[in-house]
Amino acid sequence: MLRKAELHYNWRAGRTPMKHAIIALTGLLTVTAAGAADAPAAIPHLESRGHAKQLIVDGRPWIMLAGELNNTAASDPAYLETVWPKLTRLNLNTVLVAVAWDWIEPEEGKFDFALVDGVLAGARKNNQRVVFLWFGSWKNGVSTFAPTWVKEDTRRFARVRVGSGLAIEMLSPFSDAAMQADTRAYVKFIEHLKSVDSRHTVLMIQLENEVGMNSDSRDRNEAADRAFAAGVPRELLDWLQAHKGTTPTPDPVRLWNAAGARPSGSWPEVFGRVPAADELFMAWQYARYLDHIAAAGKTVYPLPVFTNSVVARPDAVPGEYPSGAPEPSTLDVWKIAAPAVDLNCPDISAGNFEQIAASFHRPDNPLFIPEGLGIAVGVANVFYALGAQSALGYSVFGIDNTVRLIMFPPVMGATPPTDLDNLPLARGYAALRQLAPVILEHQADGTINAAWLNAAKPSQEFELGGYAIHVELRRTFWDQKFQTEQGYGIVMAAGPDEFYIAGADVQVTFKPRTPGPAVAGLAIDEAGHFNDGHWVAERRLNGDDIMLNYRLLQQAALNQSGSGARLGPESPTTQRVKLYRYDP
Ligand code: DGJ
Repeated sequence: MLRKAELHYNWRAGRTPMKHAIIALTGLLTVTAAGAADAPAAIPHLESRGHAKQLIVDGRPWIMLAGELNNTAASDPAYLETVWPKLTRLNLNTVLVAVAWDWIEPEEGKFDFALVDGVLAGARKNNQRVVFLWFGSWKNGVSTFAPTWVKEDTRRFARVRVGSGLAIEMLSPFSDAAMQADTRAYVKFIEHLKSVDSRHTVLMIQLENEVGMNSDSRDRNEAADRAFAAGVPRELLDWLQAHKGTTPTPDPVRLWNAAGARPSGSWPEVFGRVPAADELFMAWQYARYLDHIAAAGKTVYPLPVFTNSVVARPDAVPGEYPSGAPEPSTLDVWKIAAPAVDLNCPDISAGNFEQIAASFHRPDNPLFIPEGLGIAVGVANVFYALGAQSALGYSVFGIDNTVRLIMFPPVMGATPPTDLDNLPLARGYAALRQLAPVILEHQADGTINAAWLNAAKPSQEFELGGYAIHVELRRTFWDQKFQTEQGYGIVMAAGPDEFYIAGADVQVTFKPRTPGPAVAGLAIDEAGHFNDGHWVAERRLNGDDIMLNYRLLQQAALNQSGSGARLGPESPTTQRVKLYRYDP
């Protein structure tokens, strides 16, 4: 059912009357149908809407403005009670919380969901949605959250063997017994969720946590060695053949070519005797294991399921990071071997956020960041992910330790902030809560983009709505020096010559890309906000607000008017801009 807000927004944003009429009629029919049938809203699911794949919650697209609690927070109900108020003050709408195999099946075959029910009760009381993280066989690649009866029985539940053959604290993905036991516990958990969550508090499930090898490029136990010497699966061989001529060359095809592009053979025969080939071998096995668990859970309650990965540094060697996980280099293998996993997500706390986010966002892989930064740069990350990569949402890791919202890495014993409401993340999520319906519409329409700027990349330009949109770090107009080291902005084409701009510390100018007068000036520039999807104008901006450069002759020679939209430093703000055009 289209919300009133979405109807209002479509009207105000200058959409063609016909498009608005269709939207209004659709909304009316949907309301009638739902009213008549009282059909329960579909469970949370992913849906392709125009240019984007979006998370649909209670029949409406939803952006997760989230935070992930530290690993064991949910094992302590009394502690959890102290956390909920913080999440409210930080303007979250979704919380990522662990549920551990060890917590729900401490004895084989005996299940206890008290902690799960406590999380659901707290979330509902505090108007939060939940994404559960299933800590089953692996958490950061190791098996510490498996129950003791599993960890003790190393004969029934084989371990990974590395180097000279030493067993490590890691269940082997080649252990069928481990996979079956993990699957049974997971299915019991999903069955319980289905029985207690008719309100759809739970949106998605993360399956395991940052799976992958440690200390070696592959598992070297007996079952693994047998699989390594066996034939590469036909599905993967067929995919290699079908992608022989793809450009850029996918990593698995590059390895296959380097090893002679054989039509079949063992893993080393097909991919070569290199660590990257071992990583593909492990990726296939981890993917088949997680696919088995995901598929079993979906037969009961088909919530979207995702994985999270450490993103390997370019110079890292498999085994130095949890290798075999979904990475840009192994994502194709995961998509073939784990079709029941809906999305493979990057944890991004280091490296080039823009480049990593873009490398995970593919037509077959919507973007969600389960573990991101919560300091000021994290807000730029969210805006970029939502505006440029149509992300389903963003989650700050370890958010119950609010020190992470003022420093990264968090220093043990540092004094937590008290004024949570004015932290960059709280202000960023507050702005995004009111922008969400509009962003979702523009993600679907493909009329949105975003710039992520810093000293290394002080400006960016993209085409949108018939204009070249130039976004740069905010400057002083008297000496044209950059006033800031970081800036970000979402730009949405709202109608003919009309844009919404939301962000901080940037200035935006426009150059027409359609026939007609060469210069675009500001006819209207107003600050404002969205209330339930409906634009509410505040200040009418002009003069010092919009003049970016008084060297008007120089600007005219560049087909520029000297004015533009300027977004300040205080916190994300939003402007509506209507352009007019003239010839210089
Ligand atoms: C990433 C993991 O997914 C989290 O569970 C936690 O271990 C963090 N790293 C710690 O930085």
